Parts: sequence; structure tokens; C-alpha cells
Amino acid sequence: MSRARWVVGNWKMNGSIAANEALLAAVRELPRIGANVGVCAPYVYLPQAVQALDKSAVVVGAQDLSAHAASGAFTGEVSGAMLAEVGVRQVIVGHSERRQYHGETDEIVAAKALAALGAGLVPIVCVGETLVERDADQAFEVVNRQLGAVMAALGERINEVLVAYEPVWAIGTGRTASPEQAQEVHASIRAKLGSAGAVVPVLYGGSVKASNASSIFAMSDVDGGLIGGASLVAGDFAAIVAAL
Ligand code: G3H
Repeated sequence: MSRARWVVGNWKMNGSIAANEALLAAVRELPRIGANVGVCAPYVYLPQAVQALDKSAVVVGAQDLSAHAASGAFTGEVSGAMLAEVGVRQVIVGHSERRQYHGETDEIVAAKALAALGAGLVPIVCVGETLVERDADQAFEVVNRQLGAVMAALGERINEVLVAYEPVWAIGTGRTASPEQAQEVHASIRAKLGSAGAVVPVLYGGSVKASNASSIFAMSDVDGGLIGGASLVAGDFAAIVAAL
């Protein structure tokens, strides 16, 4: 079975109603040849994105969700059920910025992935090592540990997720992993996934730009990208989608 190929934009904490309008109109018109396309907007803009992309093939995603129940006394949290109700179909879990700034552990990330599936959302599970970990030769070990926690929680449902390998040292730094560096970690992720590796797309994220997307996407275990900064510029995002 072949693996789906995806380019997903992660807007992070960016946007405004006016700016989104123009960006979403451009995303809606993207010619998509080999790529499935997703856009992960901040919570408050999700209804705007769903409406603007209605009846297009572009999927709207969120950037996080609560690990808790569908509703309850969890101030500030947004549940998977709420996201699904407004038309969201995928959700990022375990982004390094959540791990780093919000103390999300492997266990919390695994619980969020499980909560996403429970709400009918596709989790995009982010894994990746810091520069200190890479320099200490721990990249494979860290990624295996992070993915292992999600696999333990999801069991056979691991084949319903997307994985994004995002080396922390490459995020927003302009320093991209080389295609070879990405490929070797992607291959190890695929091996770790076992039989699910045949169907689970593994995306690369970290300073992907129009100028480097083709060489990264050409690697055999890279099934697309999770794009931060470049997803905010319509022309750049279009070029990255075209590169897949
Ligand atoms: O989720 C996206 C990644 O963090 C990559 O961000 O493309 O701005 O480096 P970036």
C-alpha cells in the first residue's frame, strides 16, 4: 500500500482575520498534483479557515488539543470534540514548542494523540531531538522514545496517524537538516513503526522553504512536510506544495 503525501502548514501563533482571508483564498486555489494539503490555524481562526476552505480539498487542522474529556472544568482547554464540531479534521500533537514551553511530556503527547483519535481527528505526531541531544548522538534514541510512547498508547491505531520529524535545531532557525540527515531519521521512524510504517506518512519539518523542499521531498522515506514560517507566505507555500 502506498503512503499518502502531505504538505501541512502550521501557522503557529500568527495571523489576523484580514491576513488569513487573503492567505486562505490563495491556499484554496492551489493546484494539487501529488500532495494532500492541510492548514493548521490558531484556535480562534479555525471557523474562518473551515468556512474559507469549504468544499475545497484542503484539510483544516488545529495546533493542539486537550488530553482531557470532551468537556468539563479545564479552563483554557479545547477538546477534540469541539474541534471536530467546527469542522477540524487533523491536529498537531507534541510539537516541540509545546514540549519546550508548556512542559508536555511523552505521556501527555500520547494522551493527546489518543484523545484526537477518540474525537475522530487525525493526529500529526511531532518528534525530534534538540541540538544538545543531536550533538550527544542521541537523536535516534530520543525520537524512538517519543514515538514509542505514542505507539504504546495507540496500539494498532498507530496506523491512523501522521508523524512529523522536526529536529528542534532546524525549527525557525534557517538551518535545515540535510536531505541525508532527514532520510536516516525517517528510515529509523519507519522501522520503529513496524508494519504501520507501510501506511503512516512521515513528514519533515524545520526551515523547509521553496528553495530546499524538492531535495528533502526526494528522499525515499520523506512523505512531505510540516511547514512553519513559509506557510504564511502564499507564494512560498504554493511552491512547496508544488515541490512534493
Ligand atoms: O511546525 C512547523 C515547524 O516547527 C517548522 O517551522 O518551518 O518555521 O522552521 P519552520
